[in-house]
Amino acid sequence: MRALVTGGAGFIGSHIAERLVRTGHAVRVLDDLSAGKRANLAAVAGDVELVVADVRDAARVDELARDCDVIFHEAAIVSVPYSVEHPIQTNGVNVIGTLNVLEAARKQGVRRVVFACSAAVYGEDPAQPKTESMLPSPVSPYGVEKLASEHYLAAWSRLFGLETVSLRYFNVFGPRQDPSSPYSGVISIFVSRFLAGQPVTIFGDGEQYRDFVYVDNVVDANLAAATRDGISGRAFNVGCGRRTTLNQLVAILGHITGRAVLPRHEAPRAGDIRESLADISRARRELAYEPRIDVDEGLARLVEDVRRG
Ligand code: UD1
Repeated sequence: MRALVTGGAGFIGSHIAERLVRTGHAVRVLDDLSAGKRANLAAVAGDVELVVADVRDAARVDELARDCDVIFHEAAIVSVPYSVEHPIQTNGVNVIGTLNVLEAARKQGVRRVVFACSAAVYGEDPAQPKTESMLPSPVSPYGVEKLASEHYLAAWSRLFGLETVSLRYFNVFGPRQDPSSPYSGVISIFVSRFLAGQPVTIFGDGEQYRDFVYVDNVVDANLAAATRDGISGRAFNVGCGRRTTLNQLVAILGHITGRAVLPRHEAPRAGDIRESLADISRARRELAYEPRIDVDEGLARLVEDVRRG
């Protein structure tokens, strides 16, 4: 197939692009390089058409969707606290960007759009694990934007017969997740600090938990979502189905790296949810998804990768 990966020079998008190339597909990447990097595609640079463009630019997105069979829509501003501080900007990228992708797909006759949605759509509902049939109730601009996008996907599927699949990622981690900003994912920050022998900060008591999922599993889910029949308009949780508290994360990283780091505690962040755990039975059933790499194995691989540089 010929695929367009928006955000394809970013963390998750570059892993999808790389797997697509390695399995014989033609890949075009749209990325504005605001968070993504050319270096993330270094391993497949000769086989990927990288176009530096902004997903808010409807005409460019339309042009790049031409002749594509599938679009993997990963371009987004991914930080919950950043969305609390800059909601107009994140809405522009995260919602208008999705609409541009859907309109381009419809006009250009793209068969299917696979969307990087988020567990943030569930919000603070205390029921765990999260199942896709629960009523979403996001508590951050970011969660609202991902939910709005997901509704647009389902509507475009009904209105225009465009095939759409929404993958509700839980907390994805792995190589190439940029640790350099306070808005970065917690594992990327913690791993780089552990290896540098620097302290880590936990916002809250550290008993909040997440369903951390290694990026290769997320790529598996994307490939299945792009190719399986009978799933258009559907949403799927993509996690491991295992909870890890931040305190446990610190302990596991201490074990893997052989370094003891004492965390500092600060007040919880605005917009954060406390607990998040996926029920992945729908993805297992309908996508034949199975998280092949568990959290411990994923963390060990990540530490190894960061050590190698
Ligand atoms: C993450 C993703 C988001 C995704 C969502 C799905 C990032 C930046 N965010 O949001 O894109 O859609 O999962 O569930 O990848 N924390 C600390 N210390 C730190 C950093 C974070 O204690 O230095 C805490 C946070 O307060 C929070 C937890 O770690 O309780 C997770 O934070 P974060 O990694 O930013 O992820 P989410 O907000 O869950």
